[in-house]
Amino acid sequence: MAVRVVVAGNTREETEAWRCRFARVVPGIEFMAWGDDDTGPDADYAIVWKPPREFFPRQPGLKAVFNLGAGVDSLMAMPGLPPDLPVVRLEDAGMARQMVQYVLHGLAEVSRGFDQYAAHQRAGRWAPLEGIAYHEWPVGVMGLGMLGSEVAQAIAQAGYPVAGWSRSQRQIAGVDTFSGEEGLEQLLARTRVLVNILPLTPDTENLLNHRNLAKLLPGAYVINVARGAHVVDEDLLALIDAGHLQGALLDVFRHEPLPADHPYWRHPRVRVTPHVAAATLEDETVKQIAQKIQALERGQAITGVVARGRGY
Ligand code: NAP
Ligand code: GLV
Repeated sequence: MAVRVVVAGNTREETEAWRCRFARVVPGIEFMAWGDDDTGPDADYAIVWKPPREFFPRQPGLKAVFNLGAGVDSLMAMPGLPPDLPVVRLEDAGMARQMVQYVLHGLAEVSRGFDQYAAHQRAGRWAPLEGIAYHEWPVGVMGLGMLGSEVAQAIAQAGYPVAGWSRSQRQIAGVDTFSGEEGLEQLLARTRVLVNILPLTPDTENLLNHRNLAKLLPGAYVINVARGAHVVDEDLLALIDAGHLQGALLDVFRHEPLPADHPYWRHPRVRVTPHVAAATLEDETVKQIAQKIQALERGQAITGVVARGRGY
C-alpha cells in the first residue's frame, strides 16, 4: 500500500502550497492536505507547521511527525501531541547560511558603526568613524547546534573573538566554548555582542532577563534570532534605557506579529525584523523530509529526532 502523508500548515494556502511541493518531486508517496474531505485518519506521517489543535487526535496512526522548521517549541506545547510520537525537526536545510548572513549583518552594523552612518546621512554629515579594533568586540553565541555552531565559526572567520555556550561541552575550532551554569556566567562576563540561537525550552525561557543581561560588558548589544520568549522584554528595554546595553537587533518576539503598540517598534536603539533571519527553504526542506520518510520506510534510523525529555 502507498505511504500516506498528511500536510498541515498554518493556513489553508500554506498547507496546499507545501502539499504541492512534496507531491511534485516525491514519487510513490501520497500527499494529502489537512482539511480536504478525503483526509482520513490513516496517514503514516505528518508534515506540519503550527497545525490546528484537533490535528493529532484525528491522526492516530502516525509513525512520525516532521516539523517544517528547526524550532519545535510550538509543536511540543500542543496538548494533543502523543507522548511517544517521534518528532523530527529540520536540520539546517539551508537555514544556517541565512542565519550566518543575518548575524554578520547585525554584528557589522553595530561594530562598524553603520547604524551611526545612517543617522549621519540623514543629517547630511560626512564623518568617518575610527577604524574597527576587532579585539574590542568579543561575541558570545548562546546555542552551538546546527545553526549556532555555523554562526560562531563564521564570526571567528570574520576576525572577531568569539565564545559559545551549549548544554553539553562542545569543541569548535576558533571558538572558546563553555557549558552549564558556570559557563554561562563566564560567557556573559566577556561578551560585548550577545547572539541568541538557543531552542525555546522550559530551561531556556526568560534566560535573557535582567540578572543575566546585566552581566554583559557595558555597552553590550543583543541579537536575538531564536525565540521571543527567551527575552524578558521589560528587562531588555530597562537596560538599554539605563545605558548598560547599547541596543538590540530582534527577529523574534513573544507575540508574533509584534503588536502595533509594542515599544520595540519605536525604540531608537532597537531594530526589528519580522521573524525572517532564516526561512524554511522549499527545495532543501522537501528533499530532507522526503529522504527521511523513505529511510524510515526502509527501516533505517534517521537524525533530527527531538529528545522529548530535553525539549529540542
Ligand atoms: P539545535 O541544533 O537543536 O541546537 C541547539 C543548541 O542549543 C545546542 O548547542 C544545545 O546544546 C543548546 N542548548 C539547548 N538547551 C540548552 C540549555 N538549557 N543550556 C545551554 N545550551 C542549550 O538547534 P538549531 O537548529 O541550531 O536551532 C536553534 C533555534 O533557532 C531553533 O530552536 C529556533 O528556535 C531558532 N530558529 C530561528 C529562526 C529564525 O528565523 N529566527 C530560524 C530557524 C531556527 P547541546 O549542543 O549540548 O545539545
Ligand atoms: C523558524 O523559526 C524555525 O524554527 O525554523
